[in-house]
Amino acid sequence: MSLTEPASNRLATSAALTARLGDVVPGGAHTYAKGTDQFPAGFAPVLRRGEGCRVWDVDGNEYVEWGMGLRSVTLGHGFAPVVEAVATAAAAGTNFVRPSELELEAAEALVARFPGADMVKFTKDGSTANTAAVKLARAATGRTVVALCEEQPFFSYDDWFIATTEMDAGIPVSARSETVGFAYNDVPSLERAFAAHPGAIACVILEPARIDEPEPAYLESVATLCRDHGTVLIFDECVTGFRWDVPGAQTLYGVTPDLSTFGKALANGFALSALVGRRELMELGGLEHEGKRVFLLSTTHGAEHVGLAAGLASWTAYDELAVTARLAEVGQTMRDGVSELARRHGVEACVSTVGHPACLFYTTRDGNGAPSQELRALFLQEMIRRGVLAPSFVSSYARDANAIEQTLEAVDGALATLSLALEHGVDHYLEGPPVQPVYRRYNAPDS
Ligand SMILES: Cc1ncc(COP(=O)(O)O)c(C=O)c1O
Repeated sequence: MSLTEPASNRLATSAALTARLGDVVPGGAHTYAKGTDQFPAGFAPVLRRGEGCRVWDVDGNEYVEWGMGLRSVTLGHGFAPVVEAVATAAAAGTNFVRPSELELEAAEALVARFPGADMVKFTKDGSTANTAAVKLARAATGRTVVALCEEQPFFSYDDWFIATTEMDAGIPVSARSETVGFAYNDVPSLERAFAAHPGAIACVILEPARIDEPEPAYLESVATLCRDHGTVLIFDECVTGFRWDVPGAQTLYGVTPDLSTFGKALANGFALSALVGRRELMELGGLEHEGKRVFLLSTTHGAEHVGLAAGLASWTAYDELAVTARLAEVGQTMRDGVSELARRHGVEACVSTVGHPACLFYTTRDGNGAPSQELRALFLQEMIRRGVLAPSFVSSYARDANAIEQTLEAVDGALATLSLALEHGVDHYLEGPPVQPVYRRYNAPDS
Protein backbone atom coordinates (compact mmCIF):
# COMPACT_ATOMS: atom_id res chain seq x y z
CA MET A 1 0.00 0.00 0.00
CA SER A 2 1.51 3.35 -0.94
CA LEU A 3 1.87 5.96 1.78
CA THR A 4 -0.11 8.61 -0.01
CA GLU A 5 -2.82 6.53 -1.63
CA PRO A 6 -6.15 6.64 0.30
CA ALA A 7 -6.87 3.41 2.17
CA SER A 8 -10.20 3.23 0.37
CA ASN A 9 -8.39 2.39 -2.89
CA ARG A 10 -6.42 -0.50 -1.46
CA LEU A 11 -8.90 -1.90 1.07
CA ALA A 12 -12.13 -1.62 -0.93
CA THR A 13 -12.98 -5.33 -0.82
CA SER A 14 -12.10 -5.51 2.88
CA ALA A 15 -14.40 -2.56 3.57
CA ALA A 16 -17.27 -4.25 1.74
CA LEU A 17 -16.71 -7.56 3.53
CA THR A 18 -16.39 -5.79 6.90
CA ALA A 19 -19.83 -4.28 6.32
CA ARG A 20 -21.24 -7.69 5.41
CA LEU A 21 -19.60 -9.24 8.48
CA GLY A 22 -21.31 -6.64 10.64
CA ASP A 23 -24.64 -7.70 9.08
CA VAL A 24 -24.31 -11.37 9.93
CA VAL A 25 -21.88 -11.55 12.90
CA PRO A 26 -22.50 -9.38 15.99
CA GLY A 27 -19.48 -7.07 16.35
CA GLY A 28 -18.20 -8.17 12.93
CA ALA A 29 -15.99 -10.95 14.36
CA HIS A 30 -16.17 -14.07 16.49
CA THR A 31 -13.77 -12.62 19.06
CA TYR A 32 -14.26 -9.08 20.37
CA ALA A 33 -10.51 -8.43 20.12
CA LYS A 34 -10.72 -8.92 16.33
CA GLY A 35 -13.80 -6.70 16.03
CA THR A 36 -14.46 -3.80 13.72
CA ASP A 37 -14.10 -1.35 16.64
CA GLN A 38 -10.58 -2.60 17.37
CA PHE A 39 -9.12 -1.26 14.10
CA PRO A 40 -9.20 2.22 12.60
CA ALA A 41 -12.09 2.79 10.21
CA GLY A 42 -10.97 2.07 6.64
CA PHE A 43 -7.95 0.13 7.93
CA ALA A 44 -9.61 -3.11 8.94
CA PRO A 45 -8.40 -5.73 6.46
CA VAL A 46 -10.37 -8.95 6.05
CA LEU A 47 -7.85 -11.74 5.67
CA ARG A 48 -7.70 -14.61 3.25
CA ARG A 49 -4.62 -16.64 4.10
CA GLY A 50 -1.35 -16.73 6.02
CA GLU A 51 2.10 -18.24 5.70
CA GLY A 52 4.78 -18.08 8.38
CA CYS A 53 4.44 -14.62 9.92
CA ARG A 54 2.71 -13.03 6.93
CA VAL A 55 -0.94 -12.73 5.95
CA TRP A 56 -2.76 -11.59 2.81
CA ASP A 57 -6.06 -9.75 2.72
CA VAL A 58 -8.95 -10.07 0.29
CA ASP A 59 -7.61 -7.12 -1.74
CA GLY A 60 -4.27 -8.90 -2.21
CA ASN A 61 -2.30 -6.71 0.23
CA GLU A 62 0.46 -8.50 2.12
CA TYR A 63 1.19 -7.79 5.80
CA VAL A 64 3.67 -8.86 8.42
CA GLU A 65 1.27 -10.03 11.12
CA TRP A 66 1.88 -9.61 14.86
CA GLY A 67 -0.48 -11.01 17.44
CA MET A 68 -0.72 -14.27 15.50
CA GLY A 69 -4.30 -15.44 15.96
CA LEU A 70 -4.74 -13.88 19.39
CA ARG A 71 -1.38 -15.41 20.43
CA SER A 72 -2.33 -18.94 19.44
CA VAL A 73 -0.07 -19.43 16.42
CA THR A 74 3.36 -19.73 18.05
CA LEU A 75 5.08 -21.76 15.34
CA GLY A 76 3.77 -19.81 12.36
CA HIS A 77 0.87 -20.03 9.91
CA GLY A 78 0.78 -23.27 7.93
CA PHE A 79 3.63 -24.83 9.96
CA ALA A 80 4.23 -27.96 7.85
CA PRO A 81 4.63 -30.70 10.51
CA VAL A 82 1.41 -29.59 12.20
CA VAL A 83 -0.49 -29.31 8.93
CA GLU A 84 0.67 -32.79 7.86
CA ALA A 85 -0.33 -34.35 11.18
CA VAL A 86 -3.72 -32.69 10.96
CA ALA A 87 -4.29 -33.87 7.38
CA THR A 88 -3.42 -37.47 8.30
CA ALA A 89 -5.70 -37.37 11.33
CA ALA A 90 -8.58 -35.81 9.42
CA ALA A 91 -8.39 -38.46 6.71
CA ALA A 92 -8.68 -41.25 9.31
CA GLY A 93 -11.89 -39.90 10.89
CA THR A 94 -12.10 -37.32 13.61
CA ASN A 95 -14.68 -38.41 16.19
CA PHE A 96 -15.94 -41.83 17.24
CA VAL A 97 -18.39 -43.35 19.69
CA ARG A 98 -15.63 -44.34 22.16
CA PRO A 99 -12.29 -42.73 23.06
CA SER A 100 -9.50 -43.35 20.58
CA GLU A 101 -5.87 -44.30 21.00
CA LEU A 102 -4.95 -40.78 19.83
CA GLU A 103 -6.93 -39.41 22.77
CA LEU A 104 -4.87 -41.56 25.15
CA GLU A 105 -1.61 -40.66 23.41
CA ALA A 106 -2.34 -36.92 23.65
CA ALA A 107 -3.44 -37.16 27.31
CA GLU A 108 -0.35 -39.13 28.33
CA ALA A 109 1.96 -36.87 26.32
CA LEU A 110 0.58 -33.70 27.92
CA VAL A 111 0.43 -34.98 31.50
CA ALA A 112 4.02 -36.25 31.20
CA ARG A 113 5.13 -32.65 30.66
CA PHE A 114 3.87 -31.51 34.06
CA PRO A 115 5.68 -32.29 37.30
CA GLY A 116 2.58 -31.72 39.46
CA ALA A 117 -0.29 -32.91 37.29
CA ASP A 118 -1.78 -36.38 36.98
CA MET A 119 -4.81 -35.96 34.77
CA VAL A 120 -6.08 -33.85 31.89
CA LYS A 121 -9.36 -32.98 30.23
CA PHE A 122 -9.25 -31.52 26.77
CA THR A 123 -11.69 -28.97 25.48
CA LYS A 124 -11.75 -26.32 22.79
CA ASP A 125 -11.10 -22.97 24.41
CA GLY A 126 -9.53 -21.40 27.45
CA SER A 127 -12.82 -20.00 28.76
CA THR A 128 -14.41 -23.40 29.22
CA ALA A 129 -11.21 -24.81 30.73
CA ASN A 130 -11.14 -22.02 33.33
CA THR A 131 -14.84 -22.39 34.11
CA ALA A 132 -14.31 -26.12 34.60
CA ALA A 133 -11.41 -25.41 36.97
CA VAL A 134 -13.61 -23.05 38.99
CA LYS A 135 -16.43 -25.59 39.12
CA LEU A 136 -14.04 -28.31 40.30
CA ALA A 137 -12.68 -26.01 43.01
CA ARG A 138 -16.18 -25.14 44.19
CA ALA A 139 -17.18 -28.80 44.27
CA ALA A 140 -14.03 -29.83 46.10
CA THR A 141 -14.29 -27.12 48.77
CA GLY A 142 -18.06 -26.70 49.06
CA ARG A 143 -17.46 -22.93 48.79
CA THR A 144 -18.51 -20.43 46.13
CA VAL A 145 -16.29 -17.33 46.17
CA VAL A 146 -13.67 -16.97 43.43
CA ALA A 147 -10.67 -14.74 44.13
CA LEU A 148 -9.34 -13.45 40.85
CA CYS A 149 -6.44 -11.26 39.93
CA GLU A 150 -8.17 -8.05 38.96
CA GLU A 151 -5.39 -6.52 36.85
CA GLN A 152 -5.42 -9.44 34.44
CA PRO A 153 -7.76 -8.76 31.55
CA PHE A 154 -9.52 -12.03 30.74
CA PHE A 155 -10.23 -15.45 32.17
CA SER A 156 -13.48 -16.59 30.59
CA TYR A 157 -16.56 -15.48 28.70
CA ASP A 158 -18.66 -17.15 31.41
CA ASP A 159 -20.67 -15.21 34.00
CA TRP A 160 -18.32 -15.73 36.97
CA PHE A 161 -15.73 -13.59 35.17
CA ILE A 162 -17.64 -11.29 32.78
CA ALA A 163 -19.78 -10.14 35.74
CA THR A 164 -16.64 -8.36 36.98
CA THR A 165 -16.25 -6.28 33.78
CA GLU A 166 -18.12 -3.30 32.35
CA MET A 167 -19.91 -5.64 29.89
CA ASP A 168 -22.09 -7.30 32.51
CA ALA A 169 -25.45 -7.07 30.68
CA GLY A 170 -27.39 -10.33 30.80
CA ILE A 171 -25.67 -11.57 33.95
CA PRO A 172 -27.52 -11.86 37.29
CA VAL A 173 -26.25 -9.29 39.79
CA SER A 174 -25.65 -12.16 42.23
CA ALA A 175 -22.75 -13.40 40.05
CA ARG A 176 -20.79 -10.29 41.00
CA SER A 177 -21.01 -11.07 44.69
CA GLU A 178 -19.33 -14.41 44.16
CA THR A 179 -15.97 -12.94 43.22
CA VAL A 180 -13.37 -10.94 45.06
CA GLY A 181 -10.43 -9.20 43.41
CA PHE A 182 -6.81 -9.01 44.44
CA ALA A 183 -3.81 -7.23 42.96
CA TYR A 184 -0.89 -8.96 41.24
CA ASN A 185 2.43 -9.05 43.09
CA ASP A 186 0.65 -7.80 46.20
CA VAL A 187 0.42 -10.50 48.88
CA PRO A 188 -1.38 -8.25 51.42
CA SER A 189 -4.21 -7.65 48.93
CA LEU A 190 -4.79 -11.41 48.71
CA GLU A 191 -4.59 -11.68 52.50
CA ARG A 192 -7.28 -8.98 52.72
CA ALA A 193 -9.49 -10.97 50.32
CA PHE A 194 -9.17 -14.05 52.53
CA ALA A 195 -9.90 -11.96 55.62
CA ALA A 196 -13.01 -10.44 54.02
CA HIS A 197 -14.40 -13.87 53.05
CA PRO A 198 -13.39 -16.20 55.86
CA GLY A 199 -13.76 -19.86 54.90
CA ALA A 200 -15.60 -18.92 51.70
CA ILE A 201 -12.97 -18.70 48.94
CA ALA A 202 -13.09 -21.80 46.76
CA CYS A 203 -10.21 -20.86 44.49
CA VAL A 204 -7.62 -18.26 43.65
CA ILE A 205 -7.19 -17.86 39.91
CA LEU A 206 -4.43 -15.86 38.28
CA GLU A 207 -2.05 -15.86 35.37
CA PRO A 208 1.36 -16.64 36.89
CA ALA A 209 2.68 -13.66 34.92
CA ARG A 210 1.28 -11.20 32.46
CA ILE A 211 2.73 -7.73 32.04
CA ASP A 212 4.99 -7.97 35.10
CA GLU A 213 7.19 -10.83 36.19
CA PRO A 214 6.32 -12.25 39.61
CA GLU A 215 8.42 -10.72 42.37
CA PRO A 216 10.68 -13.15 44.23
CA ALA A 217 8.57 -15.54 46.35
CA TYR A 218 5.26 -13.95 45.22
CA LEU A 219 3.83 -17.10 43.63
CA GLU A 220 5.12 -19.23 46.51
CA SER A 221 3.32 -16.92 48.97
CA VAL A 222 0.10 -17.21 46.97
CA ALA A 223 0.44 -21.01 47.03
CA THR A 224 1.07 -20.99 50.80
CA LEU A 225 -1.94 -18.76 51.48
CA CYS A 226 -4.11 -21.11 49.40
CA ARG A 227 -2.82 -24.14 51.28
CA ASP A 228 -3.38 -22.44 54.66
CA HIS A 229 -6.97 -21.53 53.76
CA GLY A 230 -7.89 -24.84 52.10
CA THR A 231 -8.34 -22.99 48.80
CA VAL A 232 -7.60 -24.40 45.35
CA LEU A 233 -4.86 -22.59 43.41
CA ILE A 234 -5.53 -22.28 39.67
CA PHE A 235 -2.95 -20.95 37.24
CA ASP A 236 -4.45 -19.70 33.99
CA GLU A 237 -1.65 -20.49 31.54
CA CYS A 238 -3.70 -19.87 28.41
CA VAL A 239 -1.24 -17.12 27.45
CA THR A 240 1.92 -18.10 29.32
CA GLY A 241 1.73 -21.80 28.46
CA PHE A 242 4.16 -22.90 25.72
CA ARG A 243 5.19 -19.25 25.42
CA TRP A 244 7.08 -18.34 28.60
CA ASP A 245 8.45 -21.89 28.82
CA VAL A 246 7.50 -25.49 28.02
CA PRO A 247 5.05 -26.44 29.33
CA GLY A 248 4.50 -23.09 30.98
CA ALA A 249 5.34 -20.38 33.47
CA GLN A 250 4.77 -22.81 36.36
CA THR A 251 7.93 -24.73 35.44
CA LEU A 252 9.85 -21.51 34.78
CA TYR A 253 8.98 -20.07 38.19
CA GLY A 254 8.98 -23.42 39.98
CA VAL A 255 5.52 -23.15 41.55
CA THR A 256 3.01 -25.94 40.99
CA PRO A 257 -0.70 -25.04 41.19
CA ASP A 258 -3.49 -27.50 42.02
CA LEU A 259 -5.06 -26.96 38.62
CA SER A 260 -3.92 -25.18 35.49
CA THR A 261 -5.42 -24.35 32.15
CA PHE A 262 -3.87 -24.15 28.70
CA GLY A 263 -5.13 -23.06 25.30
CA LYS A 264 -3.85 -20.73 22.60
CA ALA A 265 -0.27 -21.96 21.93
CA LEU A 266 -1.20 -25.55 22.78
CA ALA A 267 -1.87 -26.52 19.17
CA ASN A 268 -0.47 -23.74 16.96
CA GLY A 269 -3.83 -22.13 16.31
CA PHE A 270 -5.90 -25.32 16.06
CA ALA A 271 -8.74 -25.64 18.54
CA LEU A 272 -7.39 -27.39 21.63
CA SER A 273 -7.30 -26.38 25.26
CA ALA A 274 -6.75 -28.34 28.43
CA LEU A 275 -7.43 -28.45 32.13
CA VAL A 276 -4.66 -30.31 33.94
CA GLY A 277 -4.26 -30.98 37.61
CA ARG A 278 -3.86 -33.16 40.64
CA ARG A 279 -5.67 -36.50 40.69
CA GLU A 280 -7.61 -35.82 43.95
CA LEU A 281 -9.31 -32.86 42.28
CA MET A 282 -9.59 -34.04 38.69
CA GLU A 283 -10.96 -37.42 39.72
CA LEU A 284 -14.04 -35.69 41.17
CA GLY A 285 -15.11 -35.52 37.53
CA GLY A 286 -14.41 -39.26 37.15
CA LEU A 287 -15.81 -42.63 38.12
CA GLU A 288 -13.46 -43.65 40.91
CA HIS A 289 -14.88 -41.85 43.93
CA GLU A 290 -17.86 -42.09 46.22
CA GLY A 291 -18.67 -38.39 46.60
CA LYS A 292 -21.05 -36.31 44.54
CA ARG A 293 -20.33 -36.52 40.82
CA VAL A 294 -19.01 -33.34 39.18
CA PHE A 295 -20.11 -32.69 35.63
CA LEU A 296 -16.62 -31.75 34.50
CA LEU A 297 -16.01 -30.82 30.85
CA SER A 298 -18.07 -33.05 28.58
CA THR A 299 -18.18 -31.77 25.02
CA THR A 300 -18.81 -33.35 21.64
CA HIS A 301 -15.64 -31.91 20.16
CA GLY A 302 -13.37 -32.06 23.23
CA ALA A 303 -11.19 -34.86 21.90
CA GLU A 304 -11.78 -34.67 18.16
CA HIS A 305 -8.68 -35.70 16.30
CA VAL A 306 -7.74 -32.57 14.37
CA GLY A 307 -7.06 -30.61 17.56
CA LEU A 308 -5.28 -33.50 19.27
CA ALA A 309 -3.06 -34.22 16.25
CA ALA A 310 -2.20 -30.52 16.01
CA GLY A 311 -1.34 -30.54 19.72
CA LEU A 312 0.90 -33.60 19.52
CA ALA A 313 2.76 -32.26 16.46
CA SER A 314 3.17 -28.86 18.13
CA TRP A 315 4.60 -30.38 21.33
CA THR A 316 7.07 -32.38 19.24
CA ALA A 317 8.12 -29.16 17.50
CA TYR A 318 8.63 -27.57 20.92
CA ASP A 319 10.80 -30.54 21.92
CA GLU A 320 12.93 -30.25 18.80
CA LEU A 321 13.19 -26.49 18.30
CA ALA A 322 14.11 -23.71 20.71
CA VAL A 323 10.69 -22.11 20.24
CA THR A 324 10.29 -20.15 23.48
CA ALA A 325 13.87 -18.84 23.29
CA ARG A 326 13.16 -17.57 19.77
CA LEU A 327 9.90 -15.92 20.84
CA ALA A 328 11.72 -14.08 23.62
CA GLU A 329 14.62 -13.12 21.35
CA VAL A 330 12.31 -11.60 18.73
CA GLY A 331 10.40 -9.72 21.42
CA GLN A 332 13.60 -8.31 22.88
CA THR A 333 14.72 -7.13 19.42
CA MET A 334 11.36 -5.41 18.99
CA ARG A 335 11.48 -3.87 22.46
CA ASP A 336 14.96 -2.45 21.85
CA GLY A 337 14.09 -1.29 18.33
CA VAL A 338 10.83 0.44 19.29
CA SER A 339 12.45 2.17 22.31
CA GLU A 340 15.31 3.44 20.19
CA LEU A 341 12.95 4.76 17.47
CA ALA A 342 10.61 6.34 20.03
CA ARG A 343 13.60 8.13 21.56
CA ARG A 344 14.75 9.30 18.15
CA HIS A 345 11.30 10.75 17.37
CA GLY A 346 10.97 12.26 20.85
CA VAL A 347 7.81 10.25 21.62
CA GLU A 348 9.16 7.84 24.22
CA ALA A 349 6.62 9.11 26.77
CA CYS A 350 3.80 8.34 24.32
CA VAL A 351 4.69 4.99 22.79
CA SER A 352 6.39 2.25 24.73
CA THR A 353 6.46 -1.53 24.87
CA VAL A 354 5.38 -3.52 27.92
CA GLY A 355 5.32 -7.13 28.95
CA HIS A 356 7.34 -10.30 28.62
CA PRO A 357 9.36 -10.32 25.38
CA ALA A 358 7.49 -13.44 24.22
CA CYS A 359 4.23 -11.53 24.60
CA LEU A 360 5.11 -7.93 23.87
CA PHE A 361 2.46 -5.20 23.85
CA TYR A 362 2.69 -1.47 23.31
CA THR A 363 0.91 1.36 25.03
CA THR A 364 -0.01 4.77 23.63
CA ARG A 365 -0.31 7.79 25.93
CA ASP A 366 -1.16 11.39 25.24
CA GLY A 367 0.93 14.41 26.25
CA ASN A 368 -0.51 14.20 29.79
CA GLY A 369 0.43 10.55 30.18
CA ALA A 370 -3.20 9.31 29.92
CA PRO A 371 -3.91 6.18 27.81
CA SER A 372 -4.91 7.33 24.31
CA GLN A 373 -7.16 5.31 21.98
CA GLU A 374 -6.70 8.06 19.35
CA LEU A 375 -2.94 7.57 19.28
CA ARG A 376 -3.38 3.80 19.28
CA ALA A 377 -5.68 4.10 16.25
CA LEU A 378 -3.23 6.39 14.49
CA PHE A 379 -0.31 4.05 15.19
CA LEU A 380 -2.30 1.05 13.89
CA GLN A 381 -3.38 3.03 10.83
CA GLU A 382 0.16 4.06 9.96
CA MET A 383 1.50 0.54 10.51
CA ILE A 384 -1.21 -1.01 8.32
CA ARG A 385 -0.49 1.59 5.64
CA ARG A 386 3.09 0.29 5.69
CA GLY A 387 2.13 -3.39 5.46
CA VAL A 388 2.31 -4.34 9.14
CA LEU A 389 -0.70 -5.58 11.09
CA ALA A 390 0.34 -5.04 14.69
CA PRO A 391 -2.27 -4.73 17.44
CA SER A 392 0.63 -6.01 19.59
CA PHE A 393 4.17 -7.22 18.97
CA VAL A 394 3.42 -10.81 19.98
CA SER A 395 5.79 -12.95 17.94
CA SER A 396 5.99 -16.45 16.54
CA TYR A 397 8.82 -18.86 15.81
CA ALA A 398 8.35 -18.08 12.10
CA ARG A 399 9.41 -14.47 12.48
CA ASP A 400 12.29 -13.83 10.06
CA ALA A 401 14.84 -11.02 9.93
CA ASN A 402 13.09 -9.34 6.98
CA ALA A 403 9.82 -9.24 8.88
CA ILE A 404 11.50 -7.58 11.85
CA GLU A 405 13.28 -5.08 9.61
CA GLN A 406 10.09 -4.26 7.74
CA THR A 407 8.24 -3.82 11.04
CA LEU A 408 10.84 -1.50 12.50
CA GLU A 409 10.82 0.57 9.29
CA ALA A 410 7.05 0.83 9.64
CA VAL A 411 7.40 1.83 13.31
CA ASP A 412 9.86 4.52 12.23
CA GLY A 413 7.32 5.96 9.76
CA ALA A 414 4.38 5.60 12.13
CA LEU A 415 6.22 7.36 14.95
CA ALA A 416 7.15 10.22 12.61
CA THR A 417 3.42 10.73 11.96
CA LEU A 418 2.62 10.38 15.68
CA SER A 419 5.11 13.03 16.56
CA LEU A 420 3.49 15.41 14.03
CA ALA A 421 0.06 14.48 15.40
CA LEU A 422 1.16 15.31 18.93
CA GLU A 423 2.19 18.72 17.70
CA HIS A 424 -0.72 19.54 15.36
CA GLY A 425 -3.56 17.34 16.65
CA VAL A 426 -4.40 13.69 15.99
CA ASP A 427 -7.54 14.71 14.01
CA HIS A 428 -5.35 15.97 11.18
CA TYR A 429 -3.84 12.53 10.68
CA LEU A 430 -6.37 9.94 11.83
CA GLU A 431 -8.67 9.04 8.94
CA GLY A 432 -11.58 7.64 11.01
CA PRO A 433 -12.91 7.40 14.55
CA PRO A 434 -10.52 6.02 17.20
CA VAL A 435 -10.53 2.38 18.24
CA GLN A 436 -12.42 1.44 21.40
CA PRO A 437 -11.70 -0.63 24.50
CA VAL A 438 -13.46 -4.02 24.40
CA TYR A 439 -14.92 -3.75 27.92
CA ARG A 440 -17.29 -0.78 27.69
CA ARG A 441 -20.89 -0.67 28.79
CA TYR A 442 -22.27 1.03 25.66
CA ASN A 443 -21.15 1.10 22.03
CA ALA A 444 -21.23 4.87 21.70
CA PRO A 445 -17.66 6.11 22.24
CA ASP A 446 -18.70 8.93 24.56
CA SER A 447 -20.87 6.81 26.89
C1 LIG B 1 -5.38 -15.39 30.13
C2 LIG B 1 -6.53 -15.89 29.30
N1 LIG B 1 -7.27 -16.88 29.78
C3 LIG B 1 -8.31 -17.40 29.08
C4 LIG B 1 -8.62 -16.89 27.85
C5 LIG B 1 -9.79 -17.45 27.12
O1 LIG B 1 -9.37 -18.24 26.07
P1 LIG B 1 -10.37 -18.57 24.87
O2 LIG B 1 -10.46 -17.35 24.05
O3 LIG B 1 -9.71 -19.72 24.19
O4 LIG B 1 -11.68 -18.95 25.49
C6 LIG B 1 -7.87 -15.84 27.31
C7 LIG B 1 -8.20 -15.27 25.99
O5 LIG B 1 -7.67 -14.29 25.55
C8 LIG B 1 -6.79 -15.33 28.06
O6 LIG B 1 -6.03 -14.30 27.60
